[in-house]
Amino acid sequence: MTDELYERAVAVAERAYAPYSQYLVGAAVRTRDGRVFEGVNVESAAYPLGICAEKAAISRAVVDGCRPGDIEAIGITASPCGGCRQWLYEFRLDRVTFRNRAGEIVTYSPAELLPETWELD
Ligand code: THU
Repeated sequence: MTDELYERAVAVAERAYAPYSQYLVGAAVRTRDGRVFEGVNVESAAYPLGICAEKAAISRAVVDGCRPGDIEAIGITASPCGGCRQWLYEFRLDRVTFRNRAGEIVTYSPAELLPETWELD
């Protein structure tokens, strides 16, 4: 199930728009009711304005009505950045699967990826 999301992420990464970094990232989320949404990184000539693949995929799920707790898992072609880890925590995913720097496919919970996480109380 989760490896399938990782494979979806690998396939969609081809469609990333990353002319500045040339670093193509793909992500795919699955909702608890079985919908899959894909995302890619989209860069900008004004560099900080680019968005990550994870945020693109989660945003597509939100447009379709998803809220925190509705997304079960994500597959990503890269280790998620710090900001994306905060999004993964907020949306309360169960599992985050990605290829780590050692080349292994690994799965963690958002809390494992971002211990002692800040939350707006
Ligand atoms: N990137 C992602 O899409 N997700 C991450 O979690 C890590 C970084 C993108 C942002 C930028 O377009 C490129 O990778 C290089 O940093």
